Amino acid sequence: MGNLLRSDYTIKMKDMKNLLITGASGGIGLETAKLLAEKGYTLTLVARSGDKLEKIKDSLPGNNHSVFVADLSIANDVNKLATHIQDKKYDILINNAGSGLYGKFVDLPLDEQISGMHLNMDAVVMLSYAFLKNAKRGDALVNIASLLGHSSFPGASVYASTKSFVANFSESLWYEFKSKGIFVLGFNPGAAKSEFHSRAGKQTNVYPEFILSSTQDVAKELVAALESRKKPRAVQGWKNRFMLFGFKFISRKMAVNIMGKMSPGMSN
Ligand SMILES: NC(=O)c1ccc[n+]([C@@H]2O[C@H](COP(=O)([O-])OP(=O)(O)OC[C@H]3O[C@@H](n4cnc5c(N)ncnc54)[C@H](OP(=O)(O)O)[C@@H]3O)[C@@H](O)[C@H]2O)c1
Repeated sequence: MGNLLRSDYTIKMKDMKNLLITGASGGIGLETAKLLAEKGYTLTLVARSGDKLEKIKDSLPGNNHSVFVADLSIANDVNKLATHIQDKKYDILINNAGSGLYGKFVDLPLDEQISGMHLNMDAVVMLSYAFLKNAKRGDALVNIASLLGHSSFPGASVYASTKSFVANFSESLWYEFKSKGIFVLGFNPGAAKSEFHSRAGKQTNVYPEFILSSTQDVAKELVAALESRKKPRAVQGWKNRFMLFGFKFISRKMAVNIMGKMSPGMSN
């Protein structure tokens, strides 16, 4: 049965054309969009920065790409995009847009942390619902979680928790939809060199160079995991997978102590 479904997926990949990706104006989303456009997909690029998206759209190989400007931390914008997704019937949806904040919980503005929860969780749930309600055999949903979805992370407590939500939400959906031939993937990048960290209040170089991946490498693994359709949860980068493996042999207390020591959000 599993093999049958996989061959369905493979056939479908060749026919698939329409794909919507959020957070496509920079970082991991932009690199993923470039790779998918090279593979022949017609893309709808979503983010807040319309000017950036228009330039990216014009630079991508292929025709008929489009842009949808939306602030996905705002329910009204998410509703408009959800309606668009229902009407247009995409073959693939990639929920990539996300943001975090580095700092101790009570030192960070509460409203900004709640806004991050709207973007990282509410929008993902609402857009996934709009997509999966009408999804057909061969379609695929990818939600970008994080390595931090597999642990706690002092100094970014709310952010890490939103990503645990995304990782587990996606895995449950994988099971619910596999018998329908619809693939759901929770993709978990480790620390990558993007603007994410400066937007979150710190510079990328707060992490040792050896643990950082380029956004191009993350995008390559994302596209490979989407195309192989082998498993519901993919962790990017062998060093990240090795770290998670190591965490199986230590106590949660030891793990959170290690994460707290290395967290940029715990330093002033
Ligand atoms: N970089 C890392 O180390 C890392 C690690 C693990 C997981 N991730 C996850 O990977 C995803 C992509 O991160 P990244 O590193 O590529 O970050 P990034 O470089 O900061 O890019 C974030 C993208 O999301 C868009 N975005 C942000 N807020 C938005 C909003 N309110 N509404 C609509 N779009 C919004 C941004 O565009 P606009 O500003 O134009 O709206 C941009 O296109 C995120 O979900 C992040 O949590 C990143």
